[in-house]
Amino acid sequence: MGDYWADPCGYLRELRNRYGDVYRLPWPMAEVVMVNHPDHVAHVLNSREGKYGRMIGRSAGFAGFAVGAGLGLLDGEKYRQRRKALAPMFGRRQLTRIASCLADEFDKSLARWDRFAESGERIDLHEELPAVIMPAFMRVMFSKELTDAELHQVEVDMRAWMSPFTYSLGFLGRPRLLLEAGNIAQAWLRMRRWVLRRVDERLVDGQSYDDTAQVVLDAHRRDGGSIRRRDAVLDIMSLMGAAWDSVDASLALTLGLLPQNPAAQQRLYDEVDGLGGAVPTFDDLDRLQWARACFAEGLRLEAPPFLLRVAKVNDTIGGYQIRRGSRVAVSPYALHRDARWWGPDPDSYDPMRFYDKDTIAARPSLAYVAFGAGPRRCLGMPMTEMIAQLLLAQLHQRFRVQIPTDWSPRYDPAASRSHVPAVITKVPAPAN
Ligand code: HEM
Repeated sequence: MGDYWADPCGYLRELRNRYGDVYRLPWPMAEVVMVNHPDHVAHVLNSREGKYGRMIGRSAGFAGFAVGAGLGLLDGEKYRQRRKALAPMFGRRQLTRIASCLADEFDKSLARWDRFAESGERIDLHEELPAVIMPAFMRVMFSKELTDAELHQVEVDMRAWMSPFTYSLGFLGRPRLLLEAGNIAQAWLRMRRWVLRRVDERLVDGQSYDDTAQVVLDAHRRDGGSIRRRDAVLDIMSLMGAAWDSVDASLALTLGLLPQNPAAQQRLYDEVDGLGGAVPTFDDLDRLQWARACFAEGLRLEAPPFLLRVAKVNDTIGGYQIRRGSRVAVSPYALHRDARWWGPDPDSYDPMRFYDKDTIAARPSLAYVAFGAGPRRCLGMPMTEMIAQLLLAQLHQRFRVQIPTDWSPRYDPAASRSHVPAVITKVPAPAN
């Protein structure tokens, strides 16, 4: 497995080139069947007849009993009901509110980047973006500005308890994580206590807030009006976990890749200039379609190695027999760099792939699964795209980003990320 941990994504891509659309990947204590064709991806991820499910076994029932039944631990009808109840979280009314909250927070946080522009120091975008995105996300969630100390603790704890989920197939695949299990559990418990306190505060004051935590709490309201607190806390934590690192990693990479396509970068500057220097609002998002395409293209190249499912019945995919209980995985990374769907130079950064309607229509829709597909498709996708559009716009309204010309994305397994070194300079104020 050494090859896998040295470069998980490159390894899976190499195997796809060698073995084609369906192959078996030997894995400690399990066998994983990899599928790499959009038709197979549809078969596995869209499986509405229930042939494939998330890796939710009897242990999930125990975990649900011990810590609460969050969305990620549910399956079947209970899952469908919960997902439906949570859907208003990112409906149009909420998104309008979220846009103004995000733009306001980004404005404040980016103002602090003036010091980087003044000093001319080299920064790592992947290190700096969480400090812009996390406070905004927490305000969207809890209508509350966190103190610097709270934000720091949240950052430290999130990093620890999310570490088993980043680029891995769980603890078994990474012995190092077994050694860190105590720290991870402590971080998780601290985080849970913190969220529980926020929830209890609002249950005591009895007010109804206009924020994402309130939508989650309402989704957990029983007929009699009381709230299943433990389950709600777990759902809130899952949302924080899902948002943590995913958005900043893909945005950092997008910013790193943009200069590799100067025409695309210039087009983004032009689009952003069209806002006339004003802080963008929800209504401006339609005018930021190039920014949206720039991010989608960054996400394509940032995709993770695995989306994992378990076969609930015996099945056949592409002529290969799949035994009930087998793990079946789609590799977004390999799929997103397949020349059959992305042209002869799939590694190149070209947002036109997500802008030109004919280009989009010409490829199978499931050649792109950055947000998954089917019933478990990412619930946070509308908010993620909005964060990306707003932040790309607001950042380029203030700064120009320079990336060293010899930089290329390189996944660092120790840090579970690609470092993106950058120097930023201020956009000159328009002459009167
Ligand atoms: C760049 C950012 C993001 C990416 C690439 C991403 C990607 C994904 C993917 C691939 C899945 C499906 C996993 C599977 O099929 O096993 C997923 C699920 C999910 N995501 Fe995201 N996500 C992002 C941001 C967010 C954010 C910001 C939130 C919440 C605010 C969020 C909430 C969720 C939730 C709740 C699920 C589970 C859905 C379910 O099981 O029904 N995600 N995400």
